[in-house]
Amino acid sequence: MALQIAYFHVANDVPDAASPDAAVVIDVLRATTTIAWALHNGAEAVQTFSDLDALRAAAAAWPEGSRLLVGERGGQKLDGFDLGNSPVAVVPELVQGKRLFMSTTNGTRSLQRVRDVSRVFTAALPNRQAVAERLLQEPLERLWIVGSGWEGAYSLEDSFAAGALASLLIAQGGQVANDELEAALALWQRWQADPEACLRTASHGQRLIGLGDHDADFRCCAGLDQLRVVPTQVEPGVLRAVPFTH
Ligand code: MLT
Repeated sequence: MALQIAYFHVANDVPDAASPDAAVVIDVLRATTTIAWALHNGAEAVQTFSDLDALRAAAAAWPEGSRLLVGERGGQKLDGFDLGNSPVAVVPELVQGKRLFMSTTNGTRSLQRVRDVSRVFTAALPNRQAVAERLLQEPLERLWIVGSGWEGAYSLEDSFAAGALASLLIAQGGQVANDELEAALALWQRWQADPEACLRTASHGQRLIGLGDHDADFRCCAGLDQLRVVPTQVEPGVLRAVPFTH
């Protein structure tokens, strides 16, 4: 059976009933871009939390020299955290060999929502090609792509990236399983020549612009197919760069 691909704008849209063979979470601005770059730059793992108390308790139990607290609310770094959620801040000198305890406004909520699916990956524009190749390695029948949005509202940039990823899977025989994905593919057609323009047009892009200079973040989040890393859930809430042969 051809791979059936459905897209859900936000975590709340994900159906309770059925469970797919695999789920890919997308939060272009900026959580899944930061996760990809952190693991590419040598982080031991990224452990994600939607609840801050749970994050602090888990981090406190981890060796101080081997952990970083990473996260934002409203686009701004959380008090007492080592880093906000900028993908250009997770440099090798800082993250090498460390576990990142991460909580963000939306991206980690989507990861929480699909954590019981048997295969969970995260995608962003920089690792889109690598994630597509990883998915095509297995005889999957049903795939969910789950966006993150903003506090339950639709996100242009996540839908754009879902279209970007799905376009590669459809080129290899995948089939569109809902209208949300059909619309996402149209966004990819509309903006594939200038991804950064899409990100800056999006409401969350505007929000980040309103918070100050995020030019480096936009450039990084708009970069297409630069990384070979596929963040893979190895236990509930824990993502690692699991190598795959391609
Ligand atoms: C989120 O989870 O909503 C985003 O990653 C927010 C951000 O980093 O600006």
